[in-house]
Amino acid sequence: MSAVTVRDVTEENIDDAFRVCSNVRLGDPLQMQGIELRRRWIMGMLAATGPCVKVAYFEGRPVAQLLFYPEASVPYQPHPRAGVVLLRCVYNPFKEAQGKGASTALIKNLIEECKKSPRCLKGAECSFVASEAFNTGEGVPMEKLYEANGFRKMGEEMAYEIAGKYTPPHELRYMRSKRDEGCATIVYNPTCEYSYPTALGVRDLITGIYPTMSVRLINQWEEPRESIRLANHELIINAVQVIGNLHQREKLMDEIKKAVEGTD
Ligand SMILES: CC(C)(COP(=O)(O)OP(=O)(O)OC[C@H]1O[C@@H](n2cnc3c(N)ncnc32)[C@H](O)[C@@H]1OP(=O)(O)O)[C@@H](O)C(=O)NCCC(=O)NCCS
Repeated sequence: MSAVTVRDVTEENIDDAFRVCSNVRLGDPLQMQGIELRRRWIMGMLAATGPCVKVAYFEGRPVAQLLFYPEASVPYQPHPRAGVVLLRCVYNPFKEAQGKGASTALIKNLIEECKKSPRCLKGAECSFVASEAFNTGEGVPMEKLYEANGFRKMGEEMAYEIAGKYTPPHELRYMRSKRDEGCATIVYNPTCEYSYPTALGVRDLITGIYPTMSVRLINQWEEPRESIRLANHELIINAVQVIGNLHQREKLMDEIKKAVEGTD
């Protein structure tokens, strides 16, 4: 038997996904809130469309995970592409288990599933698998893994064509609104257990600079209309989109101040 096996996540092995993604933070109460949000989301997806996470086991131990779902299941995408499966991320944080083929096995498993009639598409053909590769600075960059497995760069995304040709996603545009002036809205996504803790970190950063500012947190899957109104941007302050992350704290603080004080 091969040292690597792949299993879809069900209620039975759901904790293995968290053992991978939150491996060094399992005791952190804030991370646990992100995990519980993700658990609820996965359970909802299992009931609605079937498995949306795969875990790879190396010598019986969970070491890598892959997150995927049909674009048509995304409530904050008003014009989903038919037959498109989104590959959201692949992660193997364990140095001793890297380079053993765990993540390659996950991608191959997803592609094979999409070539048949994937359960998540309820019997419809898969047109292509699309992914926005992002980098956390850890391990091998995701785009390298995707490229080695037949994905090609197509604009902002990487895609693996199956029964159809690649088409770009529908883009939303944020229209400035009076109701966003003088306050902040942070949009988080329950599909990733880091998203909610990160959103709280951004909230604390904002209120650290502007203690009286009202800051709202929006769960993108539970308040999709509001997320669409904000063009799915992660952070809108004073009716301005702010781009940045907590890894570059000083830069993010500067962007927040620019948005609030209107300086450039
Ligand atoms: C990309 C990643 C998923 C690969 O995981 P993995 O289980 O080690 O993957 P595999 O064992 O299937 O190896 C994939 C390729 O990476 C190479 N590789 C893996 N680990 C490596 C290492 N430490 N040094 C050099 N190459 C390495 C393998 O040799 C293989 O290359 P090949 O296709 O040319 O043979 C992992 O490095 C990772 O998690 N990177 C961070 C990605 C990330 O940020 N994810 C989002 C987190 S939220």
